[in-house]
Amino acid sequence: MTLGRPRLDVESCESTQLLVDTSLPEGALVVADHQTAGRGRLGRSWEAPAGTALLFSLLLDPPQQRHAPELSLVAGVAVADALERTLGLSVQIKWPNDVMLRRKKIAGCLAEARDGAVVLGIGVNVGQTAEQLPEGAGSIRTLTGRAWDREELLSTLLDDLGRRYGAWRDGGLDAVYDGLGSRDFLRGRQVTVNGTSGVVTMIDREGKLAIAVGHGEVVTIESGDVSYAR
Ligand code: BTN
Repeated sequence: MTLGRPRLDVESCESTQLLVDTSLPEGALVVADHQTAGRGRLGRSWEAPAGTALLFSLLLDPPQQRHAPELSLVAGVAVADALERTLGLSVQIKWPNDVMLRRKKIAGCLAEARDGAVVLGIGVNVGQTAEQLPEGAGSIRTLTGRAWDREELLSTLLDDLGRRYGAWRDGGLDAVYDGLGSRDFLRGRQVTVNGTSGVVTMIDREGKLAIAVGHGEVVTIESGDVSYAR
């Protein structure tokens, strides 16, 4: 499906998540050059100097039978598709919402429920220097040495997101799993999530993280904050 219309561009705002008008049609887009209170997952902040990151939010209206929290994984798949196409490098997805390049977080996705719809926010680190990034993060600039046009990247990303979102809407997570299972950043890593420690075996077909905790026992986790051995 086509995403990105109608479109609102702002120079600065608190968060593009807050500027999405839920009375607009599905696919409505808000893009900002700078956010003063960018939101991350689990109440964290998302910060980037003006003009350095691609920051946008989209209005989505998934059918009732879909599990909306899966959207951050679907978005991760689309961001990975777009970055791989753009950069020619392989990109991983760190469950549940991070996109990784060369072991650094290059993008994050945030799906928030509002007025019966979903506001999907995506931030991609494009032009930040190493000093402008938090620990563990990288940008296209720091990781590839290349500058990239944010508008060009947005257009590729909206394309991939429209395709992956449409597939998920019609067929659920199974329909995008080809882009997810093979890019699992945590697979094989020792992790701790919500107090459970073990080795990740996979992101399962319901989008849960499966962790082998020993004695042949596998625990699946629906949401949480993962810490892992680097
Ligand atoms: C995360 O990694 O925790 C998710 C980060 C999502 C950041 C984007 S930037 C555009 C949109 N507006 C926000 O305030 N957050 C999302």
